[in-house]
Amino acid sequence: MKKEVAARGVDLISLGIGDPDQPTFPHIIQALAAAAARPANHCYPDYEGLLSFRAAAASFVEQRFGVALDPETEVISLIGSKEGIANLAVAFVDPDDIVLVPDPGYPVYGIGTAFNGGTIYRMPLTAENGFLPDLAAIPEEVARRAKLMWIGYPNNPTAAVATSEFFADVVAFATRHGIIVAHDNAYSEIYYDAPPPSLLATPGARALGIEFHSLSKTYNMTGWRVGFAIGNRELIAGLGKVKTNVDSGVFQAVQEAGIAALSGDQAPVAGMRALYRERRDLLLAGLARLGLNAQPSRGTFYVWVRVPSGFTSASFTAKVLQEIGVVITPGSGFGAAGEGYVRFSLTVPQERLREAVARLETLKL
Ligand SMILES: Cc1ncc(COP(=O)(O)O)c(C=O)c1O
Repeated sequence: MKKEVAARGVDLISLGIGDPDQPTFPHIIQALAAAAARPANHCYPDYEGLLSFRAAAASFVEQRFGVALDPETEVISLIGSKEGIANLAVAFVDPDDIVLVPDPGYPVYGIGTAFNGGTIYRMPLTAENGFLPDLAAIPEEVARRAKLMWIGYPNNPTAAVATSEFFADVVAFATRHGIIVAHDNAYSEIYYDAPPPSLLATPGARALGIEFHSLSKTYNMTGWRVGFAIGNRELIAGLGKVKTNVDSGVFQAVQEAGIAALSGDQAPVAGMRALYRERRDLLLAGLARLGLNAQPSRGTFYVWVRVPSGFTSASFTAKVLQEIGVVITPGSGFGAAGEGYVRFSLTVPQERLREAVARLETLKL
């Protein structure tokens, strides 16, 4: 439909994808340029990552989340967190294992499960529960057979954040049933209130938890493909066993740039948060004038909005695209429980967002 509308000559504004519009910070690019020139970096990297990169990741995590890690056994580099999320299933999901997956959610959790013969059990995220899964609603039989549970906060697509109390409930539930907990923390630095916590700061989490981190959204580095996982050493070792057999790690020059990102000045990240806040508030105000009262996002650069009555996720997305040339994402694309919502992404410059808001206000609902 996008192609069709573009072919009519409409100037499309895409609020559809989660890819930052701002460039990578200059000190990171400079670190890459210097590192790329060093011949030592032209060889195969180790799949687990340079120890210096893992140490920089550990030290970032300790400062930011108060979680102390052994960089040798509790940290592994990733070719973007998506790679690790998909490979975790290769490591731990066997045919007929149940994997608990949030709905709506980042599609890779379920796809990794399906590719490895696992069975998906969807945990609905509803507004009534603050977009946190209701653990008490998971049937005993399902919990008993479950191998792995996926959660991710700040949450894509609902823009919710989790509390330490929720993580404590998850750890208690998983301990009781012998379930691995995988927490996707790719948006940890994109928040609007208090800095969101790490699952691994929860007592008991290190016995069964693994957490995925990404440099993509924090430092505007989606194209660079670098992230890391931290957590229980057996889980890190299992992921490493897969990686050593299927990939050859992250280009070392990119890891050196990653060190510059993680150990350098974090002020530019605070600048990005301020920019996203401005955009979020601009969009929320426009939606409110249209009669759509969305909950302010607590984290991520998305806004999760209930569609007006009489519409489905798909029909509202189609109307917005066809009538005003604005691309948004139907919530149903993230799972059946996303029906009735759409997701707006804040990754366009202010003037484009202002134009999108002006166009939204012309919609007849
Ligand atoms: C929730 C979530 N997790 C993980 C990722 C993957 O990010 P990357 O592979 O760039 O680290 C994304 C990317 O959009 C995401 O939205």
